[in-house]
Amino acid sequence: MKLWGGRFEAQTDELMEQFNASIGFDWRMYDADIGGSVAYAKGLARAGLITPSEAETLIDGLEKVRQEFAAGEFEIRLSDEDIHTAVERRLYELVGSVAGKLHTGRSRNDQVATDMRLYTRAALGRVLAALTNVQAALLSQADAHRDVLMPGYTHVQRAQPVLFSHWLMSSFWALQRDRERLTEALARVNVLPLGSGALAGNALGVDRAFLAEELGFATVSPNSMDAVGDRDFVAETLFAAAMVGLHLSRLGEDLVMYSSAEFGFVTLDEAYATGSSLMPQKLNPDSMELVRGKAGRLVGNLVSVLTLLKGLPSTYDKDLQEDKEPLFDSLDTLHLTLPVVAGVIRTLRIHPERMAAALDDGMLATDLADYLVRQGVPFRESHGVVGRLVRAAQAQGVPLRDLPLDAYHEADQRFGPDVYTVFDMRQSVARRDSIGGTAPSAVALQLQQARALLNQG
Ligand code: ARG
Repeated sequence: MKLWGGRFEAQTDELMEQFNASIGFDWRMYDADIGGSVAYAKGLARAGLITPSEAETLIDGLEKVRQEFAAGEFEIRLSDEDIHTAVERRLYELVGSVAGKLHTGRSRNDQVATDMRLYTRAALGRVLAALTNVQAALLSQADAHRDVLMPGYTHVQRAQPVLFSHWLMSSFWALQRDRERLTEALARVNVLPLGSGALAGNALGVDRAFLAEELGFATVSPNSMDAVGDRDFVAETLFAAAMVGLHLSRLGEDLVMYSSAEFGFVTLDEAYATGSSLMPQKLNPDSMELVRGKAGRLVGNLVSVLTLLKGLPSTYDKDLQEDKEPLFDSLDTLHLTLPVVAGVIRTLRIHPERMAAALDDGMLATDLADYLVRQGVPFRESHGVVGRLVRAAQAQGVPLRDLPLDAYHEADQRFGPDVYTVFDMRQSVARRDSIGGTAPSAVALQLQQARALLNQG
């Protein structure tokens, strides 16, 4: 059974049949496809195009098909070109010729656009929940290790002391933006294309507002030509997914480094690590390496779809069939990745003593410059003075705090004996108490805001 066989005399080439078929991957939209058809059958009855009892027959039949899919009992045939054909074919087998009324005024063009939106909407709901779980894991670890000091890095060089909780929360906020982005994308996904026909609209009086209500769409697409050709929502979803991937990969990279013997700041739980087949001692952070790796395919899927859309003539073109595998793959990838990241964070062991051991006086050079600033020295000048002190300490092979007061005086008259009070990591951190800073008071505020956001859901 071909949905378009009528005007054809010759058989489709066998290879072409395979090449053309999307059932191998679009069967996954069965629930959306059947849900859309149930609503459409009701719409046809409302418009008087089928009788209420015909609608009932169609809907009962469709629900049977849905059950067969859900139970894994649906038998896909070689001739089932796509999910739309497969469902209609099976409906014929179950309810007979009335099945032929279901597609009245409908095209696979508005049908597939509807299926994709329904599928994406459901999948994004799950992704958002999983993302929130990762945020909750970050928040609870930050809460449990509020006051642990660690070296903060720029260029992977020791920069300034920060709170470990501050570092953890830096990922929380990135994921919060991702959650907002996905929620905003969801609003543009949630628009009904059904009733647009092949491209020009529905000629048979189907009430699209009714269809939207039945399917839970917030609005109805305002232009049928745009509705069947629009895949912005796919590209947008893929971008938001890729951004999640990038954020997780950066977190992953930090954890790979921090769990190495050189850093030793954290240990990944054995449940999220693997070993080496050759070196018995190894405990590798494969979970976070894979998270880093998955970001590549998320970016790749976005680029695939953007490239697919570029220069396409308006409305539906068969190229659009290629939108599905990248979309499914990115959603699957997040579905798999996010719970792993949540697990890694929740089970992470923290080594505050290793973090403390990696703090050196050089990381307080800015604080030393700030000391002079408080004596009225312009910062540019104090930066230079401290730079020379750092050089002197290095030349003598001693930490800054071991330079004698003479050396400080020589560098600048305005250094007093109280200069040594600068060498306190906790004080340094506590001074950075402006909004968004690493001071315990500022981090407490962050945690409070974060908690409120998670409670909002
Ligand atoms: N399998 C097709 C797709 O994924 C369904 C729409 C087919 N429409 C058409 N005019 N051939 O895009």
